[in-house]
Amino acid sequence: MQNFTFYNPTRILFGSGRIADLAREIPAKARVLITYGGGSIVKTGTLAEVKSALSGFTVFEFPGIEPNPSYETLMQAVELARRERIDFLLAVGGGSVIDGTKFIAAAIPFVGEPWDILAKRAKISSAVAFGSVLTLPATGSEMNNGAVITRRASNDKLAFSNALLFPRFSVLDPTKTFTLPPRQVANGVVDAFVHITEQYLTYPSDAKVQDRFAEGLLLTLIEDGPKALQEPENYAVRANLMWTATLALNGLIGVGVPNDWATHMLGHELTVMHGLDHAQTLAVVLPAMLQQRRAEKRDKLLQYAERIWGLRTGDENERIDQAIERTRQFFESLAVPTRLADYGISREAIPVLVEQLQRHGMVALGEHASFGLDDSRQVYELAA
Ligand code: NZQ
Ligand code: ZN
Repeated sequence: MQNFTFYNPTRILFGSGRIADLAREIPAKARVLITYGGGSIVKTGTLAEVKSALSGFTVFEFPGIEPNPSYETLMQAVELARRERIDFLLAVGGGSVIDGTKFIAAAIPFVGEPWDILAKRAKISSAVAFGSVLTLPATGSEMNNGAVITRRASNDKLAFSNALLFPRFSVLDPTKTFTLPPRQVANGVVDAFVHITEQYLTYPSDAKVQDRFAEGLLLTLIEDGPKALQEPENYAVRANLMWTATLALNGLIGVGVPNDWATHMLGHELTVMHGLDHAQTLAVVLPAMLQQRRAEKRDKLLQYAERIWGLRTGDENERIDQAIERTRQFFESLAVPTRLADYGISREAIPVLVEQLQRHGMVALGEHASFGLDDSRQVYELAA
């Protein structure tokens, strides 16, 4: 196992009815800005529930944070927050709203051009405190310190993280996920699945606990992902999925082990250039990525084949082939297509995707920092 430091200060309020406990987590007299997306929380009644829990506070609202949150929109929230002297942010929504709120939290006190936080890795020395009410289990943003922000004008989708950007708390009420459209349920399962593989399908590092946690989370997604689509109001299923998605990317399974993340980086360029949902990009890239890197990932692919898909017979190459195929079939079974062509993207689009990776410095990716632009091109070709 590699050396590591593990730190996660986010308080989790899990379960039905926990929105009522919000107020205790926010400093008295705070001026609170509720940030949210395109209106699902208005329709579902979650906004009303949050506002009623915040009745003792001065509350402002910033709606309109879009999926794949944009710098352009978020800067409007930064202006509002500065003008109204906001000192607590409350994100109510999915990963996009929470990520966007992390950027707002960092940008409010930032001196200079906040885009530099992403583009130039400018140092952040303070951030406004924030919490979240999660409505879509997928990204893990509710319990990590990372965010991914898009600048539409320049086709950049960039990630950043900072120790100041863990939510103070997150409310995880599984009943709030009953209203999710099937596409978002499936997206959440695929995103959490690939978060796990990015930290698990690398090379062995004698990390038994991380491996077995990762395997437990993968098996839960395979078991309960399809059930959530069949029985949208099954509380137990929603609760298990919600906690799985959080644990998939709150640091726990990623410490002490090599991390990959190349699938995510290739995926971000597909979102920014072609508008695919984040999880759709992962469903396209992962099977091709595992195929292209099957030699370097051989030991862990065999472990994955056996412990996740029960593949114990046949020669090693056949087991790896089958494990990749089963992964693809699982995504397809959730109605998330796994080929570029399924999204109307042809091979002619590939050179621009590779140029984007180059422009963003994604030239030595993966657990060995050896996955170069030609490898990326091959993966996109395999995914065609
Ligand atoms: O905008 P509203 O109207 O709220 O509708 C949203 C949105 O259209 C809807 N929705 C959310 N909760 C709902 C609901 N509809 C009905 N009922 C509910 N309970 O779902 C749609 C998608 O929401 P979004 O927040 O965009 O989805 P997701 O949670 O998948 O977040 C994706 C973003 O997170 C980033 C992605 O790149 C992408 O920008 N990621 C963040 C990570 C992190 N911070 O650690 C890691 C991930 O790898 C990922 O990159
Ligand atoms: Zn992801």
